[in-house]
Amino acid sequence: MELVFCTSNAHKLAEVAAILGNDFSFLTLSEIGFYDDIPEPYNTLEANSLTKAEQVYTQTSRDCFAEDTGLFIEALQGEPGVFSARYAGEPADSQKNMEKVLEKMKGTINRDAFFKTVITLILKGKAVQFEGRCHGKIAETKSGVQGFGYDPIFIPEGAARTFAEYSADEKNAISHRKKAFDALSDYLRSLNSKTR
Ligand code: IMP
Repeated sequence: MELVFCTSNAHKLAEVAAILGNDFSFLTLSEIGFYDDIPEPYNTLEANSLTKAEQVYTQTSRDCFAEDTGLFIEALQGEPGVFSARYAGEPADSQKNMEKVLEKMKGTINRDAFFKTVITLILKGKAVQFEGRCHGKIAETKSGVQGFGYDPIFIPEGAARTFAEYSADEKNAISHRKKAFDALSDYLRSLNSKTR
């Protein structure tokens, strides 16, 4: 089965390649010569990941999957959520996004938050979705240099360090993305065993 991963985010590509290991391989958008802009116009991760996968499937007729992730902070009524990439405005800037979160959270006791990843897989025109969450807390300040996005201000549940202070392997063992891709792998394996 040849699947296309509908992303041009190099961090996501690296994380997903490490998470999937030998489970299955995928082609990237640049490998199939797809350079079109893929808009994310909706206000749910489910709708945006579906529209990304649908756009690639419609234009290339290739089986594919897309993932969309957001950080949901309880005290900010779920912000930045689906708007995580551009929370501080255009152009997308992770440092400014984190500063906006820390500013809004100043003096806030409830620091509960979670990352949520939604994957849409399209096989022969049929879409299926998978989800993964990672709960934790928003730190008071940024720490660490690993990872990307909001990692320097996110402390996973039960930990005393931010994701940006985790090694790639440590993050990939417990992350929202890992959980969502485990569900995708299980699904693909179950299809394989049915066709054997
Ligand atoms: P998108 O799925 O590319 O739309 O990602 C939305 C935003 O969430 C981007 O700003 C990313 O930097 C951020 N983001 C996505 N995944 C992670 C993660 O694993 N850690 C930290 N930030 C993330």
